Amino acid sequence: MTSAQIQRSAPGKVILVGEHAVVYGQPAIAVPVTQVRATATLQAAPPGSGLSIVASDLNRSFSLRAAPEDEPLAAAARLTLAHVTSPEPDAVATVHSTVPIASGLGSGAAVSTALARALAAFLGHALDPAAINALVFEVEKIHHGTPSGIDNTVISYEQPVYFVRGRPIERLAVSTPFTLLVGDTGIPSPTKSAVEDVRRAWEDDPAHYDALFDQIGDIVDDARRAIEIGDVEELGMLMTENHALLIEMGVSSPQLDELVDAAQFSGALGAKLSGAGRGGNMITLVEEDLAEDTAQVLWEAGAKGVIRTKVARTG
Ligand code: MEV
Repeated sequence: MTSAQIQRSAPGKVILVGEHAVVYGQPAIAVPVTQVRATATLQAAPPGSGLSIVASDLNRSFSLRAAPEDEPLAAAARLTLAHVTSPEPDAVATVHSTVPIASGLGSGAAVSTALARALAAFLGHALDPAAINALVFEVEKIHHGTPSGIDNTVISYEQPVYFVRGRPIERLAVSTPFTLLVGDTGIPSPTKSAVEDVRRAWEDDPAHYDALFDQIGDIVDDARRAIEIGDVEELGMLMTENHALLIEMGVSSPQLDELVDAAQFSGALGAKLSGAGRGGNMITLVEEDLAEDTAQVLWEAGAKGVIRTKVARTG
C-alpha cells in the first residue's frame, strides 16, 4: 500500500570527541544537531513512471532505473526497497537539506536517512532506528570508503551516543545540558581523503599513531564521565586537548586553528575541529550567557556560518 505524500527528516551531527581514532576501534562521542536537517518528500507519480529522485540542493536528479550502483541516494533507495521487499514505486522523491555538504556535519548520512525513512513510510513500513542505521551504513561506505559508522548511528538514533565501531550503540546520559557553537570555515572537509591520509600516516608510523589514538580514546572516556556527572568545564578542557592531538595527527588547518583559538580567546570552555578536518566545522563549548559573544568572535575571525545548539539532558 502506498500513501499520496509522505515526508520524513533527519538531523545533522557533530563529533564531540574522538574522530579519526574511532576508525581504529577507539570510542567517540557524537551528538545530533537538530538546527540543520535533511528532508525527503515522497509524492505519488503516474503508473509506470518508476521512482525519480530530485535533490536540487545536491545538484542531483535522476530516475532510479538509470542511476549507477555507486550513486549514494540511489543506493539508499535500493537498500530500502530490498529491506521492505517492495518493487520500485511510481513516485517522485524530493530531497532537501540544510546540512552543509562536506562540512563534518553528516550531510551524506542525513539525506540517506531521510530518504530511507520517507520511502519506507510511503510503502507503509516504519523502519526502526537499527534498520535505518544498518542501511545507511552501507551507503556511507560508498561516500567514505571505510567509515566507522558513527555518523549513521548518531543520525539514525537522533540521540547523543558513545560509539565504538562494531559494538551495539550506547546512549549517553547527559546530566547537565550544555551549549555548543558550530563554526564553519567554509572550506570543504573531504572525509574520504582525510581518513585515507591518516591511514597512510598510521601505516608509515604505527607506533606514533597508535599512541595518539590511545590518548584520544582516554579523552573520550574522560569526556563521557564529565558529561555523565555534568562537569562542563572538564568537558571543555578535554575537547581542547583532543584538538591538540588532531593537529598532531595532521588533520587540522590554519582556518580551523584560527577559529579554535578565537573561541578560546573569547572565554569559551573548550574548542576543537569536528569531523574529518582539513576544513569543515569546528565546535566550541560555551557558557550559555557568553554564547552570543563567542559567536560574534567566530564571525570576526572569518567563520562563514555559526550554528548554536544545545545538548539536552537525557535519561
Ligand atoms: C567523520 O564524521 C568522522 C571520522 O572519524 C570518520 C569516521 O568515523 O568514519 C573522521
